[in-house]
Amino acid sequence: MSLRLGDPAPNFQAKTSKGEIDFYEFLGDSWGVLFSHPADFTPVCTTELGRTALLQEEFARRNVKVLAVSVDPLDKHHGWIKDINETQQCEVDFPLIADEDKTVANLYGMIHPNASETFTVRSLFVIGPDKKIKLTITYPASTGRNFYEVLRVIDSLQLTAKHSVSTPADWQHGEEVIIAPSIPTDEARQRFKEVREVKPYLRYTNQPA
Ligand code: BEZ
Repeated sequence: MSLRLGDPAPNFQAKTSKGEIDFYEFLGDSWGVLFSHPADFTPVCTTELGRTALLQEEFARRNVKVLAVSVDPLDKHHGWIKDINETQQCEVDFPLIADEDKTVANLYGMIHPNASETFTVRSLFVIGPDKKIKLTITYPASTGRNFYEVLRVIDSLQLTAKHSVSTPADWQHGEEVIIAPSIPTDEARQRFKEVREVKPYLRYTNQPA
């Protein structure tokens, strides 16, 4: 069965390019991004891991630990990481899981048999500090993911975890947010300095600090 939002993220132990890890220990109190790609030494995957490496500071700033997974073996991962660093002008510093027996792929439902019997699709999970699934995204093998979108959603998740707000379509960090419908407008005016009421159910305020 596939994992759904709010489900506990399964723990696992794995061999990675950074040594053996226990997933929960690796995450500690941080947020996590666990993402799969179909295979090593493939072009789209090379650009995805490169982009993630180049955005490593952005993930760290948000207290997010990143972990990639494919069903290829460790020696292949090490050779490929050299290529990624060379071609994408980056330093891959996050662990790449060698999931040869497909433990992680099966736990997280990353193999979609009607797309490929053997390879993982482009699955991505954001996991909260409570070890619950906060976001799932699935892309086909032929489409590289947008990692700026992943950061944008993490910004929204971290904001809405703290404040009674939601984020509108195409929201970017720093823009107006939507006040939760459960808060009456009178109370909203006390809680948030500025309230812009478009409809009784559609009220905006500045992004809380
Ligand atoms: C790629 O990463 O380029 C790729 C991997 C598997 C299938 C198609 C493309």
